[in-house]
Amino acid sequence: MDFFTYKDNQLFAEDCDVSALAKKHGTPLYIYSRATLERHWHAFDNAVANHPHLVCYAVKANSNLGVLNALARLGSGFDIVSGGELARVLQAGGDPKKVVFSGVGKTDAEMAQALEAGIYCFNVESSAEVERLNEVAGQLGKVAPVSLRVNPDVDAGTHPYISTGLKENKFGIAMDEAEQVFARAASLPHLHVKGVDCHIGSQLTEIQPFLDAMDRMLALIDRLAEQGIVIEHFDVGGGLGVPYNDETPPHPDVYAAALLERLGDRPLKLIFEPGRAIAANAGIFVTEVLFLKENSDKRFAIVDGAMNDLIRPSLYSAWQNIIPVKQTQGETHSFDIVGPVCETGDFLGKDRQLAVQAGDLLAVRSSGAYGFVMSSNYNSRPRVAEVMVDGDKDILVRERETVAQLWQGEHLLP
Ligand code: LLP
Repeated sequence: MDFFTYKDNQLFAEDCDVSALAKKHGTPLYIYSRATLERHWHAFDNAVANHPHLVCYAVKANSNLGVLNALARLGSGFDIVSGGELARVLQAGGDPKKVVFSGVGKTDAEMAQALEAGIYCFNVESSAEVERLNEVAGQLGKVAPVSLRVNPDVDAGTHPYISTGLKENKFGIAMDEAEQVFARAASLPHLHVKGVDCHIGSQLTEIQPFLDAMDRMLALIDRLAEQGIVIEHFDVGGGLGVPYNDETPPHPDVYAAALLERLGDRPLKLIFEPGRAIAANAGIFVTEVLFLKENSDKRFAIVDGAMNDLIRPSLYSAWQNIIPVKQTQGETHSFDIVGPVCETGDFLGKDRQLAVQAGDLLAVRSSGAYGFVMSSNYNSRPRVAEVMVDGDKDILVRERETVAQLWQGEHLLP
C-alpha cells in the first residue's frame, strides 16, 4: 500500500497536491512519500520481529540522502555495493555497524574504506576476493568480518537481466566449491567468518525460488557446522517483487514466515536486503505532455521526461503504470508515451489508454526504485529534481541540475 491517491480527481502524494508540486519544483520530477517508505520498511522489520534480524535496505534502489536519512532514523541497516554508497550512508546518518557490503568487484580502496568505517560484514563473492580482503585487512592491522555469497543455482523466474542466482551468472561462489572456500577463509588470520549469503534475483513474485535457495543454503550451513565452521547469520538477499501491474508478490509477512519455518530451530540471525520492496511504490515520476502527435497508425504523447531520467521501460521493457495527475472525463485513446531523446527506444509506456492534452501532467507509478539512480545526462539533459513529501510538507531532497553542472570537471583544450 502507498500514499499516492486521488482526492477530487486530483493526484495527491500524502497530503500534497502533485500539480502544485510540479508547479513549484518543475518537471520532470521524482516525488517520494516518506510515509510509504516507512510503512514498507516496518512491514519487513515487523515480519521478523520475534527473531534476531537486520533489515539492510539495498541502497542501489534509491540512494538519495533524504531517502537514506528517513530509513536511518528508523534504525535501518544498509546493503551497499560501492565506496560511494558507503559514503552516502554515513553522510545520511546511517550506522556503519549495520552495513553489509555486497558486490563482485570491490577495490582495495573500497575494502580499506569499509574496514576503517567498521562495517558489519563483507559479502565476499569469490576465492580471489577472500585472499585480497585478508591482505588488505592485514595491512591495516584489522580483522574483516565476512560472509560468503554462494550461488545456489536456482531459477528465480524473473527477467534475465535481473536474475542472479544461476550458475551462468557472474555472482557468488559455486555451491560445489563453497565448503573449500569457507575452510580457506576460516583459516586466514585477518578474516572472521560470520555468515552465508545469497541473492537470486530481483522482482520475484513467487515464494518457491526463495525457499529452494534457502534449502540449499541451510544444507550448506549444516555441512559447515560438521566441519567446525560456525555460521552466525544467514543473509537471504533482496529480490522480493512489487505490484507494478497485476503481479501479486507475497507480503513480507508471508515471505518471512515461510523462511522462518524453513530455518527451524537453527540459531541464525537473518539479514534481509530489500530494495525495490521498500522504495518502488514509494515514488512517482511526474512528467508534462509537450505535444500530441498522430500518424495513420499511432498516437504519441511526447513528454518532457525521457529514458535518461527513467530507463526501466527502455532497458527491460518494464511496464509501469502511467496515470493522469488530474482525472478528466475526456475521450480516451491509445497513446505511446515517448520522450525527447533521439532513440527509438525512448519511451515510458506503450499503448496506454489515456485522455491527454498538451500541458497535462502524467505520473509514472512505482518509480521510487531504480529510477533516479539509473538516470544519466544522455542528450545533455540535466538530471531532474527529487522531492520527499511528509504529510503536507514537501522537501527538496535533490536540486535539479543546472546546465553549467553538465560540464563540471570538463576542460577545453589548451
Ligand atoms: N542484494 C543484492 C546483492 C542485489 O544485487 C540486489 C539487487 C538487492 C539486494 C536488491 O534487490 P531488490 O530487493 O531491489 O530486488 N535495475 C533493476 C534491478 C537490479 C537489481 C540488482 N540487484 C531494475 O530496475 O529492475
